[in-house]
Amino acid sequence: MTLAFFCLGALSLLGELDEQVTTENKKDWIDWIYAQQVLPTGQIPDPNEAYCGFRGSSWSGRKFEPTATTCSFQHYDSSHIANTYTALLNLLLLGDDLSRVNRQAIIKTIRKLQQEDGSVAPTYGSLEIDVRFIFCACAVSFILNDWSGIDIERTTDHIKRLQSYEYAIAQCPNQEAHGGSTFCGVAALALMNKLKEGLVDKDKLIEWCLQRQVSGFQGRPNKSPDVCYGFWIGASLDILESFTLVNCQELKAFLLECQHKIGGFGKDPDSFPGKISR
Ligand code: FPP
Repeated sequence: MTLAFFCLGALSLLGELDEQVTTENKKDWIDWIYAQQVLPTGQIPDPNEAYCGFRGSSWSGRKFEPTATTCSFQHYDSSHIANTYTALLNLLLLGDDLSRVNRQAIIKTIRKLQQEDGSVAPTYGSLEIDVRFIFCACAVSFILNDWSGIDIERTTDHIKRLQSYEYAIAQCPNQEAHGGSTFCGVAALALMNKLKEGLVDKDKLIEWCLQRQVSGFQGRPNKSPDVCYGFWIGASLDILESFTLVNCQELKAFLLECQHKIGGFGKDPDSFPGKISR
């Protein structure tokens, strides 16, 4: 689901989505995405209550059910909040009206994923809890225009605790700040309309982000630049209304150094598929 989002999102940004994906293909994509939806069972109590949303892909043994209205829970076949997030984006990119999305079930599941301290788990019972999934839960709530699954105050306080001595944002409290987690925290605050309350020091955070530009952006001090931080930190700076301070000429030159002649990007000029082609 997430790989589909990178492909469809990139085609859309390039203005090529309608050119490259036929109406028939779009319909097939949409049906495949809906076939990954984990739905309530209709039983009371519902064993699926904490597992609804979208799974990442089908697995062998699951029946293809693009129009299912219920489905029985299989223990290792739950939704994942990153896939729910990218499934909704994929559907919107493909022109779907989300009419087959069980909004209520997704919001109920998000309520179950949020922890006491405001953090969010990706699947019910998972211990892999960090700010990536706060961002995904906020993005899903924003798309569905329903914030009743999230305690906004507790989430904002939690993101405040993720800001390190460098004023940028870490995955979990007391960890090292990082470009990826900074995007997740800043974007989540923006979606909740809590940037003002949630940032310890906005100017110092902007300074940290700008200092990560070494040609392209690095994800943390003393590391090499990597293509992906052009997005994670570039987007953070954009949300913080400071993207104009980026040296775009240097950034563009770095990105082009990482591009393969057939179109793909490596994370840096020395990684596949970058240098290999030259
Ligand atoms: C590399 O760590 C980490 C990444 C390339 C991913 C960073 C992105 C995020 C955490 C955001 C994910 C967002 C969502 C919504 C799922 P590293 O230690 O290998 O690289 P480094 O040396 O550059 O820090």
